Amino acid sequence: MKALNAFQDNVKEEKIDTSRKLKIGIIGTGWIAGDHMTSYLHMPDAEVVAGADLIPGKAEAFFERFGRKDVRTYPDHTSMLEAEDLDAVSICTYNAAHAQCAIDALNKGVNVLLEKPMCVTLDEAVAIREAEKKSGKVLSIGFQPRFDANMKKIKEICDSGVLGKIYYIQTGGGRRRGIPTPFGTSFIEKETGGIGALGDIGCYSLDMVLNAIGYPKPLTVTGYRSDFFGKNPKTYPFHPEYAQKFGVDDFAAAFIRLEGGIILDFRIAWAMNLDTPGDTIIMGTEGSLRIPSTECWNGSVGGPMTLYHEVAGSQVETVIPVIEDNGPSLFDRKIRTFMDACKNGTKAPVPTDQIIYNQAILDGIAKSAELGREIEISIPE
Ligand SMILES: NC(=O)c1ccc[n+]([C@@H]2O[C@H](COP(=O)([O-])OP(=O)(O)OC[C@H]3O[C@@H](n4cnc5c(N)ncnc54)[C@H](O)[C@@H]3O)[C@@H](O)[C@H]2O)c1
Repeated sequence: MKALNAFQDNVKEEKIDTSRKLKIGIIGTGWIAGDHMTSYLHMPDAEVVAGADLIPGKAEAFFERFGRKDVRTYPDHTSMLEAEDLDAVSICTYNAAHAQCAIDALNKGVNVLLEKPMCVTLDEAVAIREAEKKSGKVLSIGFQPRFDANMKKIKEICDSGVLGKIYYIQTGGGRRRGIPTPFGTSFIEKETGGIGALGDIGCYSLDMVLNAIGYPKPLTVTGYRSDFFGKNPKTYPFHPEYAQKFGVDDFAAAFIRLEGGIILDFRIAWAMNLDTPGDTIIMGTEGSLRIPSTECWNGSVGGPMTLYHEVAGSQVETVIPVIEDNGPSLFDRKIRTFMDACKNGTKAPVPTDQIIYNQAILDGIAKSAELGREIEISIPE
């Protein structure tokens, strides 16, 4: 209710122009589409008019759950884009369908909010960026942690210069047991998920630190991926057959060189025999920042951050308390900032010129792991 009131206040204060409503379509009506729908319902200038899902009856049941039987439904994204005159779509399909859906929507002149990770491969990301440029439309990638006050604080600290020259970053995270199979196997099959922990939660850890330091270009990567837990039937007590379907990674690690002489040491796990693979640390010549291990996706930091620095020759630590962020939900902010960009024709809140580097790293880790050696990252301009 708090979130709804926040946006109603904005209407009263004329910050939101309700005389111009955006006609929205939702592609893929699974788990995360529910969060998109909830947030669109909070927006006084959004009208969800259509939705599509490949599974017969799924889109109809989805909109019925929200008391919106009036929303027109389609058996796939192409028929929806063909039939409707939409302003924007939320793409909430599994990773492997992101690229085609985004390209088709952009080619139709529709603005796109694309769930994370951007896609599966770098080639796909390049094709999406090309379609985006040709269309002149807004394409934003769904990294909601960006809108959290604590995540913003990390960037503010880096931007302030208090760390000096940043030269080494360690990041990542994960779960002791947390391979996502809440509604089936779309995350763990190669044909749908495409990449595993690497893409699902790794992309968040990368975004947290790369956004903080201005997204320098990745140059080389040595990557590793494994699937020891994913392929073990014991991991799924109620569905041992999932082990046969597991075609992605449950753990990935990498050593990445970034432009500007910065080293990025990364590890991510959906499952491991450990509580955490470590805190995030950002080391600089004047100070270093420790960010307690976090799940990232919900924007939270795992506890107060610590800045290690020197004051008048003394080595001291400054604790940065966790900020209680009681504003609208991160999803509401993600949807609001996207809609504002669509309405005002301004830059996407989470733009492809940054996230293509995130995708290049994910792709580089997968390729390097397959080849068993370091590779150079080359991103077509
Ligand atoms: N931002 C977040 O916090 C967050 C959280 C969870 C998932 N995600 C991301 O959201 C995406 C979807 O995840 P999910 O858990 O909702 O998946 P899901 O498997 O529950 O739902 C995806 C749906 O997309 C449909 N679909 C696939 N291709 C389609 C097409 N061409 N046209 C219409 N429908 C199509 C499928 O039939 C399926 O019902 C993933 O990329 C995931 O990484 C983001």
